[in-house]
Amino acid sequence: MSKIDPHTAASAAKETALPHGAAARRGPFRAGERVQLTDERGRMNTITLTPGTAYHTHKGFLNHDTLIGQPEGSMVESNVGQQYQALRPLLSDFVLSMPRGAAVVYPKDAGQIITMGDIYPGARVVEAGVGSGALSISLLRAVGDSGYLHSFERREEFADIARGNVETIFDGPHPAWKISLGDFQDQVVAQEAPGSIDRVVLDMLAPWECLDAVATVLAPGGVWINYVATVTQLSRTAEAIRADGRFTEPDAWESMVRGWHLEGLAVRPDHRMVAHTGFLMVTRRLADGVTGMTLKRRASKTDFAQEDLDAWTPAAVGERSVSDKKLRRAARDASSTVQTRRNISQAEADEAHGTLPEH
Ligand SMILES: C[S@@+](CC[C@H](N)C(=O)[O-])C[C@H]1O[C@@H](n2cnc3c(N)ncnc32)[C@H](O)[C@@H]1O
Repeated sequence: MSKIDPHTAASAAKETALPHGAAARRGPFRAGERVQLTDERGRMNTITLTPGTAYHTHKGFLNHDTLIGQPEGSMVESNVGQQYQALRPLLSDFVLSMPRGAAVVYPKDAGQIITMGDIYPGARVVEAGVGSGALSISLLRAVGDSGYLHSFERREEFADIARGNVETIFDGPHPAWKISLGDFQDQVVAQEAPGSIDRVVLDMLAPWECLDAVATVLAPGGVWINYVATVTQLSRTAEAIRADGRFTEPDAWESMVRGWHLEGLAVRPDHRMVAHTGFLMVTRRLADGVTGMTLKRRASKTDFAQEDLDAWTPAAVGERSVSDKKLRRAARDASSTVQTRRNISQAEADEAHGTLPEH
């Protein structure tokens, strides 16, 4: 009787149960996936590998077929000897280069949200707005296949862009993801049972409008984390949370990441940095019937004048309106990689079954 090596058996079992999207991130480059090319000057470009096509620059071309089947980290050459380093884009690369309609949550903030929002595998999370789906991707990675992420977005064009981006990075629809159209504050209470949600993540203009809905769906002890761009939004959200009394005292912070230049003895901070993205604020739901300690600590001025209220209209906080045409283009771009992959898989299936594609 042959003996089964327990280590081999365990790793084989793990292989068959790979989390969604993980297999697509390993092994040699395959047709239909995105590859990031870096040239000798450090300039990056991302291409979707399509058999029989080429990546053209003013310095010649590189056949996609040269890359298909090569290991990640390969160096390849164009027809005129231009060298490129080829790697799969990391999540942080993908998020910053993916099609978008609204501002995305930067990777540095997504990392903070996952850790400080305590987003764990198996958690039941609701999120709004979806925007381009950058944060949804990080949240899905954190909750995993057995978790649950219900994302709400009021604008259909943004939802389409987000769906394309999520399906591109996970190589298809994610089993833990549900996306609903409409205003978070109306939809979440209509679709989720009271006290059934572990974590709420809001990235929108007016999180204070969602306070009652968040208090309804969040389980006692559940975490509510907000990402806002301006001090006025931060202040208004904090005061609304305090005045409500069903939450713990909110904590707020921002994170700044300063890159470093590394060259010989010239080791110093980069001259430029992204100095401001947004502020984060976290609070937790108290048990029903509990009077929050925050009630004893009223802020000195909690009333807002009309001037304060006007300060966070979309125009005042610098949100530029994006044209419908631009949004439709971004949605098309976001789903193009998935579509290319589907076409390639279909062509491969047709070839395997000996059927000729229809013309
Ligand atoms: C800054 S974007 C979100 C970006 C997203 N977190 C990302 O990382 O790509 C804000 C989004 O919130 C949506 N939004 C604003 N208020 C909303 C609400 N009450 N319910 C649902 N969506 C809302 C807007 O349409 C917009 O798409």
